[in-house]
Amino acid sequence: MNYEHMEFKDVLKYLGDRVGIDTGSIKITKKNTKYDKLYKAYNLSLKYYQNNLNSSFGKLAKDYLLKRKIDEKIIKEFEIGLSLDKRDDLTKLLQAKEYDLVTLNRIGLSSDDHDVYSNRIMFPLYDTNGRVVGFSGRIYKDKDQSKYVNTKETDIFKKGELLYHYHIAREECRKSSSVIVMEGFMDVIRASTIGIKNTVALMGTALTNEQINLLKRLSNNIILCLDGDDPGQNATLKIGNILLEQGIETKVIKLPNPDDPDTYILNNGKERFTGLIDSAINFSDYKFQRLKENVDFRSDEETANYINEVLKETAKIEDPIRVEVVLKRLAKEFNIGYNTLEMRINSYIKEKPKKEKEFIPQKKTTRKDKYTKAYEQIIYFMLNNDWVITQVEKERIIFPTEVMRELCSEISYYYKKYGNINIADFYTYIQDRENILILLNNILADSYMEKTTKDELFLYFSVTREYCEKQEIKRLTNLMKKEMDPIEQAKIVEKIRKLRLGDN
Ligand code: CTP
Ligand code: MN
Repeated sequence: MNYEHMEFKDVLKYLGDRVGIDTGSIKITKKNTKYDKLYKAYNLSLKYYQNNLNSSFGKLAKDYLLKRKIDEKIIKEFEIGLSLDKRDDLTKLLQAKEYDLVTLNRIGLSSDDHDVYSNRIMFPLYDTNGRVVGFSGRIYKDKDQSKYVNTKETDIFKKGELLYHYHIAREECRKSSSVIVMEGFMDVIRASTIGIKNTVALMGTALTNEQINLLKRLSNNIILCLDGDDPGQNATLKIGNILLEQGIETKVIKLPNPDDPDTYILNNGKERFTGLIDSAINFSDYKFQRLKENVDFRSDEETANYINEVLKETAKIEDPIRVEVVLKRLAKEFNIGYNTLEMRINSYIKEKPKKEKEFIPQKKTTRKDKYTKAYEQIIYFMLNNDWVITQVEKERIIFPTEVMRELCSEISYYYKKYGNINIADFYTYIQDRENILILLNNILADSYMEKTTKDELFLYFSVTREYCEKQEIKRLTNLMKKEMDPIEQAKIVEKIRKLRLGDN
């Protein structure tokens, strides 16, 4: 329940499905929660709106939807409905079900004695468990009203605490190891029609901390696919930066201006859109591209400025290997010494803590060094990719601490015993191993990448080898200091020299 953020009955069904046991007939005696009545009101409204769309009153709205290529199947899947132009139908219906006007006003379905919505296409909004907790109503004939009207905030509907489509995306993101973030629910619905369902929509809010946590639960591989217009691109920068500050580097899909995912998919089709997903770029590269846009590279000053800006942005990247890649590329592109760039970037990295000087009473994880990061990333890869476990064994990767070694051997053991790795199950499996659990929690709380390629994995392996060499040099240096015999000493010095040579 904790790991998947699911309710008991959902976990029961989820586990049952996995092992082929029908849990549908199991009766869970559940106390009525205080919000049951609220959920029920929303369910009744949903049915009412759906009926309207299918009645003769719904003809015009249906035509509108069909014209936008939202067919019957999508209407059903996303439970789209219609509010009518009759002042108080829903209010009356709910009053007949023993809801009083005060309650109906409080929960956002009535306003005084009439319905909140009229003449709008109704899109239900779901909470993280897939229950309908609100609506967004879209105009379809009157042009002079605001495009969407949303349910007001209630005890069960807090816009900043949900992401549209989260309950469906949960399983889909697991399968695809990524989550695509869009602006509007129309975008999500459109993507769904071409089989892309690992998507959520922000629905016009600024990204809240709750939403960031939800995103992290879906996947560490977050792909931003916002509108191609200026507001959309500015939001991409803003959201990407917020996540980067939290140590998550997103990927970015840049749509041509003024497309949004909905129109892009309609005009270009599935193939082209999946192409965009596959070629999504790292957020820092996206920022570099934007930085480059107005630079005149014939001017030395502008060029230097540009390089400095890139270095400042690079200083925010947590993965030391990516930092190296960026620096190497810059060095080559502008023919500058790598060391010069490295010195400059270090000054930016050191400047950082100053900003955070004010006392913030929240636990701040210390910045992990390059080697810890590499080792932990490898462990996280192992948890997400069976083949990495085999590679780690084959390449005889040695982990630096006892607890890391224990965790890895448990992962290998678990994998051999069960034939695959499921993090939630593995988590349960090591419940009573306190040390390992602390390390695992620490790794899960960080934002490591889930998927990797063999080439990339070997980059991480080479970092671990570099670490081992460093340790060995340390050991030999100590040994040498203690050694009295000058001939033995010279032998050790020679060994160190050889190691150092192999280092570069
Ligand atoms: N939104 C809103 N109120 C508005 C406009 C937008 O709540 N007046 C929210 C909606 O949740 C919408 C999202 O912001 O899904 C994105 O807005 P927009 O890009 O304008 O919507 P589209 O997805 O393009 O909708 P459509 O194609 O129907 O115009
Ligand atoms: Mn849009």
